[in-house]
Amino acid sequence: MLSEKSRPLIDASVPVLRQHGLAITAAFYRNMFADRPELTNLFNMGNQANGAQQQSLAAAVFAYAANYGDNSALAPVVSRIVHKHASVGIKPGHYTVVARHLLGAIGEVLGEAATPELVAAWDEAYWLLAAELIAAETRLYERAGTGPDHRQPVRIVAREEQSADITSFTLEAVPGTTLADFLPGQYISVVVELSHGVFQQRQYSLSDAPNGRTWRISVKRERGDDAGLPAGAVSNWLHDNARAGDVLMVSQPFGDFAPAIEPAHPIVLLSAGVGVTPMISALNAVAQRNPARKVVFGHAARMASHVAHVKDVKHAARQLPGLRTHFFLESGEPAEFLAQPALPGRMDIDVIFAGDDLADADFYLCGPLPFMQAQRAALAARGVKAERVHREVFGPDLLDGLL
Ligand SMILES: Cc1cc2nc3c(=O)[nH]c(=O)nc-3n(C[C@H](O)[C@H](O)[C@H](O)COP(=O)(O)OP(=O)(O)OC[C@H]3O[C@@H](n4cnc5c(N)ncnc54)[C@H](O)[C@@H]3O)c2cc1C
Ligand code: HEM
Repeated sequence: MLSEKSRPLIDASVPVLRQHGLAITAAFYRNMFADRPELTNLFNMGNQANGAQQQSLAAAVFAYAANYGDNSALAPVVSRIVHKHASVGIKPGHYTVVARHLLGAIGEVLGEAATPELVAAWDEAYWLLAAELIAAETRLYERAGTGPDHRQPVRIVAREEQSADITSFTLEAVPGTTLADFLPGQYISVVVELSHGVFQQRQYSLSDAPNGRTWRISVKRERGDDAGLPAGAVSNWLHDNARAGDVLMVSQPFGDFAPAIEPAHPIVLLSAGVGVTPMISALNAVAQRNPARKVVFGHAARMASHVAHVKDVKHAARQLPGLRTHFFLESGEPAEFLAQPALPGRMDIDVIFAGDDLADADFYLCGPLPFMQAQRAALAARGVKAERVHREVFGPDLLDGLL
């Protein structure tokens, strides 16, 4: 528990640190990477460059202090962080390095305002959070029967174009190893060597139901643009280099977004763009294990050529008499994927609900942040309780709602 001495110091400084949050985390990363350059292989340097990770770490530390003692606010955030940490292989020893540079950065940015008492209070708060994360990560490693060094080689046995920009890779264990079981919705980290000695890892949701033999991921090629936005490093590397027969280094599956497959009540899977991947895993799993279930599958895309995994949805439709599908195309193209024509524009929750009793349904969302914010608001406006709405974010979660 936070000591009585530290509590008022933390309370008084949260607004100040929040105000300087980005400057502190920028200084923190700069100093840490200068001191320990090998850590750049562990972190997502794309997120460093576009600022997303900096915002996320700042948000987590200050949200923790601001909400100290309120487990209900923080539990989902902590759960997401520890699964991500386990996936990328964080070790307890890493926390000492982060502590040194994070507290150093607070001192650097606040200058004289960072009194020894204030820094000691933040040291205490940091280690309370760190201890919680380390314990939870240790439990995750133990449950997975592994430790932080859990990378394993897998062979690509199939490569298939699922849409204009999304290609799937089916992965098999190499001789002498096995593939772990996973829950639909979970992801693996894929590690690639971009150039000599420069490694990067990214997370990819497993995009098929567990089958005991193979894993599948589906990767969207993140294109650059003429305005200077660089092309995504790992997604383009995979599209350009990864062929059937090649070996990739990947992590064990982790992730706390796990649509419940077995219950009898309806399940609603709503996705946009490449956010379809965990939904396909869940859809295929329900088709195999719970085919009597009512399933609503809603998907939004910019244009018809961007709609991925239609073959999977058609296959699931043959197993699931209670499946309803809705496709939305911003282009307004007169495309037909299944049952009925795609609707023009963005996803409309009224269409998802039309003709169905979804009062006790669980809702799962995955797509770009604006998509999820819009659907979450639309579901709340319809009276769907927040605990019925689950989401996956394909980037650092910016912890909206906690700040
Ligand atoms: C839990 C989870 C599951 C995921 N599942 C999937 C999935 O199933 N399929 C999938 O395709 N993706 C998935 N992702 C996203 C994936 O992990 C990668 O983030 C994605 O492939 C982009 O990685 P990249 O290396 O290609 O791009 P990065 O190189 O990481 O770039 C990311 C973005 O930052 C921009 N950027 C890079 N450098 C700069 C710079 N210097 N200045 C400004 N902007 C910059 C890029 O233009 C790009 O838009 C998932 C992510 C998470 C967290
Ligand atoms: C109390 C300490 C820490 C906090 C509060 C914290 C917080 C976070 C948060 C919020 C995320 C993003 C999760 C998401 O995807 O939404 C994250 C991811 C990550 N963290 Fe931590 N973290 C801590 C310690 C560490 C340590 C010690 C390391 C290792 C040196 C580390 C390395 C990473 C990496 C590699 C990622 C994945 C994102 C990326 O690739 O850049 N973190 N952390």
